[in-house]
Amino acid sequence: MSVSSPSGPAFPGNFLWGTATAAYQVEGAAAAGGRTPSIWDTFSHTPGLVTNGDTGDVACDHYHRLEEDLDMLAELGVGAYRFSISWSRVLPNGGTQLNPKGVDFYSALVDGLRGRGIAPVATLYHWDLPQELEDAGGWPHRDTAERFAEYAGRLGGALGDRVHTWITLNEPWCSAYLGYGSGVHAPARTEPAAALAAVHHLNLGHGLAVRALRASVDPAARVGVTLNLHHVRGVSDADTDAVRRIDALANRAFLGPMLAGAYPPDLIEDTASVTDWSFVRDGDTAAAQAPLDLLGVNYYNPVLVRQWDGASPRSTADGHADGAASPWIAAGDVEFVRQPGPYTQMGWNIDETGLTELLLRLHRDYPGLPMMITENGAAFDDVVDADGRIRDEARIDYLRRHLGAVAEAVGGGADVRGYFVWSLMDNFEWAHGYGKTFGIVHVDRETMRRTWKESAHWYRGVVAANALPATG
Ligand code: FCB
Repeated sequence: MSVSSPSGPAFPGNFLWGTATAAYQVEGAAAAGGRTPSIWDTFSHTPGLVTNGDTGDVACDHYHRLEEDLDMLAELGVGAYRFSISWSRVLPNGGTQLNPKGVDFYSALVDGLRGRGIAPVATLYHWDLPQELEDAGGWPHRDTAERFAEYAGRLGGALGDRVHTWITLNEPWCSAYLGYGSGVHAPARTEPAAALAAVHHLNLGHGLAVRALRASVDPAARVGVTLNLHHVRGVSDADTDAVRRIDALANRAFLGPMLAGAYPPDLIEDTASVTDWSFVRDGDTAAAQAPLDLLGVNYYNPVLVRQWDGASPRSTADGHADGAASPWIAAGDVEFVRQPGPYTQMGWNIDETGLTELLLRLHRDYPGLPMMITENGAAFDDVVDADGRIRDEARIDYLRRHLGAVAEAVGGGADVRGYFVWSLMDNFEWAHGYGKTFGIVHVDRETMRRTWKESAHWYRGVVAANALPATG
């Protein structure tokens, strides 16, 4: 494999290369050092909700293997590492008292990264709400937004001198619509009106948290949010309205308040049968809007929609079974169409053109807002060969295509500052458990041994060259 001929697309001089993980997916040590359960502990321990009954109790045991994992990152040569903080590890029982042992763990992580020349990129919320806060109402409840801001301020105070890139929320789309709409994520509620209230309180919580961070972290720090923006295409010109509606629910429901200080009127109208949005109080959207230094974009694949005719069998290509609660609130007549392959192990189609188009759209709509690809990657059925190697050519191909797509968007003027592979290592893939493997490093579930896949070697070459190899 030639990773040494950097004659493929090159990236801007100070481009930040990294890998990403999230607390519940890798840490394990669920009850160590005073950590208390989050909604994902409850979810994964509820029989039938996670494939194979898997839980994050042990995950990748990253909590106990910190030094080894830090060395692995150094060996990869990445300039940054995106991790998330477990809220209930640092503020147990949904309380307001910082847990020194929890903070120590993240201090060690941050110091260990910095000592190796790797910039820490901290996400405050990657879906693991302390269980007590869900018991008090969760994200549909306004108080959660305020509790989130308090948590942000405390963590800013504890780590803000050393962490210079902060992400408030990871993919609030998932927290709201999968957590409270379709119920396939924690806390497994299927209440459409609550899902929209969750959208709002996540937006509000984000804005309040940005302010709390600005008041507590190094003034030079960058603060942003990570959204899983959907690149939505219609089957034909007749589907323009279906595209508009999904774009409103998926993208503008967050971009509107966070970046423009208002909900899109069409979203309010489309969902009027579900809620009157009276949970939005005066001043809320102004509070949700906070100047951002960075928009984190997570991209896996585009979506294809059409207006459903109401008669033919409904496509379930968005992954939710026919008849089951949908994450797409008040959009039951929009059909998600299966797109042409190839597909990943998740059944997601591989189409990097959506990433270029999405980045160029964001560049047009929000000129001057720096972006970072905070997640991109693919799960495949990896095979450990007899010689111990994992020849994951399909993952290399996926990464190469998507990095090419990023380079193309940069060529078109998009201000993309960095790229983080999802994921550093195979981990707990939420409701799919450990069977879906996104890592560039393989984790043996019995021994926890880490083994670099070929994609990790390949990525190290890309990082070192700041360019894609012409071949291989
Ligand atoms: C994203 C999540 C991340 C991981 C990838 C595959 O939606 O942010 O934790 O599960 O998908």
